Amino acid sequence: MEQTNKTIAIACDHAGFELKEEVKKYLTENQFIVKDYGTNSPDSVDYPDMVHPLGRDINNGTFERGIVICGTGNGVQMTVNKYPNVRCALCWIPEIAALARQHNNANILAMPARFISKDIALEIVKTYLNTDFEGGRHERRVEKINKTL
Ligand code: RB5
Repeated sequence: MEQTNKTIAIACDHAGFELKEEVKKYLTENQFIVKDYGTNSPDSVDYPDMVHPLGRDINNGTFERGIVICGTGNGVQMTVNKYPNVRCALCWIPEIAALARQHNNANILAMPARFISKDIALEIVKTYLNTDFEGGRHERRVEKINKTL
């Protein structure tokens, strides 16, 4: 595995809480350290409050990889993608997660808890953590992402 920093940052809202707990269990069982930014109950919260701190810490290099979860995956993804060094990919099948690493060098994985099973989610996480960036022509494309007009 290319992963050198074995700490995975994770954050969710109430819709993602149950799946976040399952992902945490999977990660700790597989020798990862988890930095949990919450939320830590099914009580309703605003997802930016949980995921902004995670986005900041991936952006400033404190952690190399993160996982964010909400009902659709979109709110958390939109929030962390405000940070220039973040490339967060919304993934609902393992094949998308593989391509998000190979082609986009995604450093945060977003998942839609209300639309995928726990088993698929864990397959997505496994694929995301075990797939390397291909570089080459994709390096050039990724470098252009922040070059807004
Ligand atoms: C919460 O109801 C829901 O809006 C949130 O989890 C997420 O899907 C937002 O994008």
